[in-house]
Amino acid sequence: MTQSGSTQPVRDNQTATGGSPPPPVHVAIIMDGNGRWATSRGLPRVAGHRAGVEAVRRAVRTAGELGLQWLTLYAFSSENWRRPLSEIIDLTGLLRHFLRMEIADLHSKGVRLHFIGDRTKFDPGIQSDIAQAEKTTNNNAGLNLVIALSYGGRAEIVAAARKTAEDIIAGRLPIEALDETNFAERLSTAEIPDPDLIIRTSGEKRLSNFLLWQGAYAELLFVDTLWPDFGPSEFTAALAEFARRDRRFGARPG
Ligand code: IPE
Ligand code: IPE
Ligand code: MG
Repeated sequence: MTQSGSTQPVRDNQTATGGSPPPPVHVAIIMDGNGRWATSRGLPRVAGHRAGVEAVRRAVRTAGELGLQWLTLYAFSSENWRRPLSEIIDLTGLLRHFLRMEIADLHSKGVRLHFIGDRTKFDPGIQSDIAQAEKTTNNNAGLNLVIALSYGGRAEIVAAARKTAEDIIAGRLPIEALDETNFAERLSTAEIPDPDLIIRTSGEKRLSNFLLWQGAYAELLFVDTLWPDFGPSEFTAALAEFARRDRRFGARPG
């Protein structure tokens, strides 16, 4: 049975009668604003991406301290391949460094890593580092850290539709049985609960192809802070804002 909440918009422990919602189980972050952070300091954009990696370290630590079970970080979108080659080289270089240097530390802290997105777009070295990170941390019981790499929500939905069609044609899934639950089981997030809260930094107010299916009932929070400046106090403030939201999931207001 999948943990995906896609067919259960009303959580068992969610009341529709007002009051604070239960704390978020899963927070997802669109980490935006590295380039502007660097440019505003007269630095090259890569300096912003480096500072962004520092912010990732802080966010993972804070997520653990705040008791989150799942943290998803949007690190590279399927559209980010449109950036200049020099920036792609900088970003993939930082990714390679992160995978080589940070996994042991995350593993020692009990973090379990998951990756979503089209990893085949990266070079074989990065693909094998990703596989190794998943394998090494597979039995950890601490924070689940999902890193979205070359991720696009529309492509993910199309891939799930293709798998569904194949299963129907092969007789593994009767067409009458197709529903939101078994469709969601064919998404890359099959084992991941839907995000309760999606935060986007840098003041942009859009989803940029992030968790389009899974975010159907997420609370959205757009903050002006640029990603490299996002620290424990911003994260804590985001959860405080979440606690003030009234999650109704379509039910009658309390
Ligand atoms: C987010 O920062 C990092 C990635 C998208 C990889 P940006 O690089 O988008 O920074 P801005 O939006 O140009 O400031
Ligand atoms: C979204 O940021 C993707 C990530 C943060 C990884 P972008 O900076 O790529 O988004 P747009 O282009 O402003 O929509
Ligand atoms: Mg951006």
